[in-house]
Amino acid sequence: MIRLGILISGSGTNLQAIIDAIEADTLDVNIALVVSSRPDAYGLTRAEAGGIPTLALTKSDYEYPIAADERIARALQLAGVDYVVMAGYMRKVCAPLLTAFPQRIINIHPALLPSFVGAHAIADAFAYGVKLTGVTVHLANEEYDRGPIIAQRAVEVEEADTLETLEQKIHAVEHVLYPEVLQLLAQGRVRIADDGRVAIL
Ligand code: GRF
Repeated sequence: MIRLGILISGSGTNLQAIIDAIEADTLDVNIALVVSSRPDAYGLTRAEAGGIPTLALTKSDYEYPIAADERIARALQLAGVDYVVMAGYMRKVCAPLLTAFPQRIINIHPALLPSFVGAHAIADAFAYGVKLTGVTVHLANEEYDRGPIIAQRAVEVEEADTLETLEQKIHAVEHVLYPEVLQLLAQGRVRIADDGRVAIL
């Protein structure tokens, strides 16, 4: 069974969706370690409740981002992690992690990339007035919110939507899509071509 390391910074609802899918037997993975960029992230409580080992870093650790990522990479390797899954991780991954897990770091973004990159994607899409937005799961690389796209799912913005209802709709889609994509990975059905395009087998 493949082993995941999950990186979080906040509430961890995507982590929870992954834990729930494992418990429901729809996702055949093992979560070997949860790493948080903040010691107060509620996601850490979710991990502990699920009996998952955790590592929490602090803001001061990230004054030296390379050293922080070296530490995280070492911990993930010690835990025998195959894939690194970013789930609301608000830090950029840098060279030590990218080198330790080439083409094996996955991120979820609450918009249809390459539109609306950055930390406020749902609000930015709503303010722009798009009629269609959605969720993207992609491989992380040196550029924030770039990297080969594995899967996308659309969410319509309806007349009656407010930012809050749109956020709810997007998060609901994330919680279904992320476990689905991770199951494809677990089944060895995600192939990355040399040109970076991803095919689902
Ligand atoms: C999600 O919307 C994710 O797409 C974005 O950050 C949010 C994390 O939420 N990268 P949670 O911590 O999983 O609840």
